[in-house]
Amino acid sequence: MDNLIEPEIRRLSSEVCNQIAAGEVVERPASVVKELVENALDAGADQIKVVITEGGKDLIEVTDNGHGMSADQAQLALERHATSKIVSAADLFGVSSYGFRGEALPSIASVSDFSLTTRTRSMDAGIKLTVSAAGKISAAAAPAPVGTKVVVKDLFYLVPARKNFLKTTNTERGAILDRLQRFAMSHPECSFLLEHNGRRLLNFTRGDREVDRIAAVLKLKSDDQLRPLPESGGDEIKLKGYVSLPTVQMSSGRHIYFFVNRRAVRDKALLAALLKAYEGTLPRGRYPAAVLFLKVADGAVDVNVHPAKEEVRFADGGRLFGLIRQVVAEALSGYPVNGKADDFFSRFGG
Ligand SMILES: Nc1ncnc2c1ncn2[C@@H]1O[C@H](COP(=O)(O)OP(=O)(O)OP(=O)(O)O)[C@@H](O)[C@H]1O
Ligand SMILES: [Mg+2]
Repeated sequence: MDNLIEPEIRRLSSEVCNQIAAGEVVERPASVVKELVENALDAGADQIKVVITEGGKDLIEVTDNGHGMSADQAQLALERHATSKIVSAADLFGVSSYGFRGEALPSIASVSDFSLTTRTRSMDAGIKLTVSAAGKISAAAAPAPVGTKVVVKDLFYLVPARKNFLKTTNTERGAILDRLQRFAMSHPECSFLLEHNGRRLLNFTRGDREVDRIAAVLKLKSDDQLRPLPESGGDEIKLKGYVSLPTVQMSSGRHIYFFVNRRAVRDKALLAALLKAYEGTLPRGRYPAAVLFLKVADGAVDVNVHPAKEEVRFADGGRLFGLIRQVVAEALSGYPVNGKADDFFSRFGG
């Protein structure tokens, strides 16, 4: 045991801390797009433009017309755990912004060639911050409209092992498109533009009707393939949305979307409740399309349970699932089931 040498314990540099945090926050180009669009929406933007090349592996550029940041604030925004969105842990249970960790920007900056240009209404010109590979921030005046533009080049160039995990350009592009479609459905008041390798992939204009965006994303006709759900629930939980009629038979559950307080989430129990409502109406292995918006009161949902915030925890899941099952089943009642008329029609001699 003579050769046992105790290792020296050192504090990691902030750059390494950021890169480690990036392992959770930034999995692929679509996660960068998600974080930047969330920041834009949190900043009150109603115009968001995303330009990418090679599935976002080479370039991701997100421009918004939100409130922007002053020079000092923008510098601070690039530091870890710097946020304008919460002050105490208690705030997490009433958080209405997408962000709350103060981790997204420093994480993204630590694994890419990163710059941020921003301008507030009271500034005469914009300021551009560039982050070097060593994590050093340099600032220069730059002409810019009010708002913020973040440019992320060469994602993971500093962490080649992670770069190797990226999928093909088509797959990464598809994941980004899916992300933006979700934002577009939950934010009809905002315009969204996506360009990939110079081609426009998505273009939603401000003030579109929610149902038109949903129908466009699902590639369904709002009149004869989708049913609106009546707004239901009470003070604690509210549900609204659209579900497809049983005549729509998808080969996967890919067209089922859940939003909790406008946040896109995946939740097996919510999905099970929805599918239960379709029981007996769809052949085995076939899925509906659905977009459900849930509004849950402060304190009834914990958004801080998943590193990318894609899952949430409900205080009273049972009530939520019951509501979904009941409201969706009611919306579908009266529609021919598997080619046969169901009770509703036979009862009324239809
Ligand atoms: N597009 C933007 N427009 C205006 N302010 C922004 C923008 N992006 C970031 N900010 C500011 O920078 C801060 C840091 O952003 P960052 O995304 O790193 O953290 P966050 O959004 O607070 O939390 P999270 O890590 O959960 O996303 C934000 O709190 C916000 O004040
Ligand atoms: Mg953020």
